[in-house]
Amino acid sequence: MDAAVNDEAVGGAVAITGANSAVGRALLKQIASQDTLSAVALVRREAAVDDLPRSPRITPCVVTYEQPERLVETLTGADCVVHLAGILFESRTSSYRTGNVESTRALVAAAQSAGVRHIVFVSSLGADPRSSNGYFRSKGEAERLVIGSGLKATIIRTPLLLGPGTAGGRALLRTAAGRSARVLGGGSHRLRPLDVDDLCRAILDCCREADAGVRICGMVGPTILTQRELLQRTARLLGHELAVRSTPVWLARLVAGLAGLFRTGGLTPAVIEVITSDEANHCLDRAPAVTLTPLSETLARLCETRAS
Ligand SMILES: NC(=O)c1ccc[n+]([C@@H]2O[C@H](COP(=O)([O-])OP(=O)(O)OC[C@H]3O[C@@H](n4cnc5c(N)ncnc54)[C@H](OP(=O)(O)O)[C@@H]3O)[C@@H](O)[C@H]2O)c1
Repeated sequence: MDAAVNDEAVGGAVAITGANSAVGRALLKQIASQDTLSAVALVRREAAVDDLPRSPRITPCVVTYEQPERLVETLTGADCVVHLAGILFESRTSSYRTGNVESTRALVAAAQSAGVRHIVFVSSLGADPRSSNGYFRSKGEAERLVIGSGLKATIIRTPLLLGPGTAGGRALLRTAAGRSARVLGGGSHRLRPLDVDDLCRAILDCCREADAGVRICGMVGPTILTQRELLQRTARLLGHELAVRSTPVWLARLVAGLAGLFRTGGLTPAVIEVITSDEANHCLDRAPAVTLTPLSETLARLCETRAS
C-alpha cells in the first residue's frame, strides 16, 4: 500500500494516530460512512494498514514517532488530529513513557509545526500526573503536554470501552463464555462501560467544534454496575448462568509483582490497580452531548460478534 498522503483526501481532514487501535478502526468506519470528513490514518507498521477500513475517504500513512519530519509532513493539511496511540499493557517494546508520554510529546510538536489547529486526545478516567500508578501518571503527563501545546485541545477521559475489537470487550466475552470464572476481588468494583461508537460520535462532534481553548471532559456509559454484574449479564445473553469466584486483589498484585522480576509488561500491579479501580467515583463535568447507547444494546452487539 502506498504510504504517501493523498492530498485530495486530506482536504479538511482529520488525522488519527493509532488508527489501527480498536477506537481508531471504529472511528474510521464512521468517517467512511458520512460525507463531510476525510481521514489520514497514521499507523506505525506497514502490516497495520491491512487492519484499517478501506474507503476513498481514508488515506493510510505509515510513520513512527521517531520520525519528526515525516510526522509533520503527514499532519500538514489536517485541521484536527485525534490522538489515540497509547497503551495500558506495557511490553518489551512499549513502556508507559514511550507509548503514552513520548508519543504524545512527538505528536504535539509535529502538530504545532504542521499548523494543526485542534488536538482531540482520548485519555483515561483517573489520569493524573501526580498519581502513584504509572499508567494514570503517564496519561496525566500526556494530558499536560496537550494542554500546554497552545493549540485548541479537547481531552476526553474514558472508562472501560466496549465494542468489537476492544480489549475490554474481548476479555468480557472470553470470561463470560464459561460456566464459572475467577475474577479479581470477586468483580465487586463498579464500572461505567462506554460504547466505543458513542465515543467515536463524540470525537467527531469535537473535531467539528469551532470554539477555541482547552476542554477536559469525562464521558461514561449510561449504566453503573459491578464487574460481576456485567459478566453475569453477558453470560445470560450468551445463554447460560455464570458463577463468579474471587481471586484476592492483594494476592494477584503479589504474584504480578514477583512475575515482574522475570518479565516486562503483561498483568503488572499497575494494570491490576487500573482494571479494578472504581469508575463510578469520578467527577464528570462537561460530558460531550451524545445520546448514549443502552448497555443492553452494546452487550447484544458484542455477543453477536462472537457468534459471527
Ligand atoms: N480500550 C479502553 O478501554 C480504553 C480506556 C481508556 C482509555 N483508552 C485509551 O484510548 C486509546 C485507544 O484505545 P484502544 O483500546 O483502541 O487501543 P488499542 O486497540 O490497544 O491500540 C493501541 C494503539 O497504540 C499504538 N501504540 C502502542 N505502543 C505505542 C508506542 N510505543 N508508540 C506509539 N503508539 C503505540 C498501537 O500501535 P501498534 O499496533 O503499532 O502497536 C495501537 O495503534 C488509547 O490511548 C487508550 O489508552 C482506552
